[in-house]
Amino acid sequence: MNAMDTKEKADLASLPIGIFDSGVGGLTVYRALHDRLPNERFVYLGDTARVPYGTKSLATVERYALENAQFLASFGIKLLVVACNTASALALPQVRAKIGLDVVGVIGPGGRKAVEIAGCETPRIGVIATEATVASNAYADRILDACDKAEILQKACPLFVPLAEEGWTDAPETFSIAKKYLAAFDDFKPDAIVLGCTHYPILKEVIQQTVGENVKLVDSGEATADEVVDLLRDKALDNRNIVSGSRRLCDDLDHFFVTDATERFGNVAERFLGMKPTKLEAVEVYGSDNMKG
Ligand code: DGL
Repeated sequence: MNAMDTKEKADLASLPIGIFDSGVGGLTVYRALHDRLPNERFVYLGDTARVPYGTKSLATVERYALENAQFLASFGIKLLVVACNTASALALPQVRAKIGLDVVGVIGPGGRKAVEIAGCETPRIGVIATEATVASNAYADRILDACDKAEILQKACPLFVPLAEEGWTDAPETFSIAKKYLAAFDDFKPDAIVLGCTHYPILKEVIQQTVGENVKLVDSGEATADEVVDLLRDKALDNRNIVSGSRRLCDDLDHFFVTDATERFGNVAERFLGMKPTKLEAVEVYGSDNMKG
């Protein structure tokens, strides 16, 4: 590598990591990344004007995902994490083709982790996610890529999203809805269940208690963060310049954008992360195709 290459690499490594989600749920992925990468800065976009993605069509989710990705790319990022399971399931190839950057989605890492932690030759893996993610079969495809003997059962659990945002993490109503959804797995007897939606880790306790302690829960955001750590190290893109000592979640080194309802985003962020973002701005991403190639 010549001197120019080294300098370019160092400049690239000092750029932030971009993350987008349909709204606030991707903060669970941000937290997993932040925990593992205290030396990195993050730019987060929550598309709160157009959430939810989980009930929308392929064409619409693709368009939203591309606009979000282009908006973040226009800021100068070194890597894009598509934190939204629905956008990862439906639009990852299109985003990869359009953005000249490494792009990491949450489906592949979550699927691979499920096979790994099921820890048997013929794993029985449950997937809970939005309607669009389940209909796409993206998790089933990635799980079968990792283990073609896997048995898979998927179930959409759309009401978990508003329950998590309300902060009803141990309400009787949440338990009763969980019981109704997760009864789908009673006969299947999964070794592991993938939490295939950004919001579901917030309800992990309810889900675990409902399915029983023997079923391993896979947080695809955490699995994704593990793979991002490896990717940055393998490509020598990890940032060496920031002093990590004083970093905390949502501090002013991280920049948060939303497409609507800034105050609500801050309030739900506080519920999810225990604090509000210091730097939080409303922005329009539509037509950001023009902002950067
Ligand atoms: N962020 C979405 C996901 O992970 C859940 C919320 C939505 O439907 O947009 O699939």
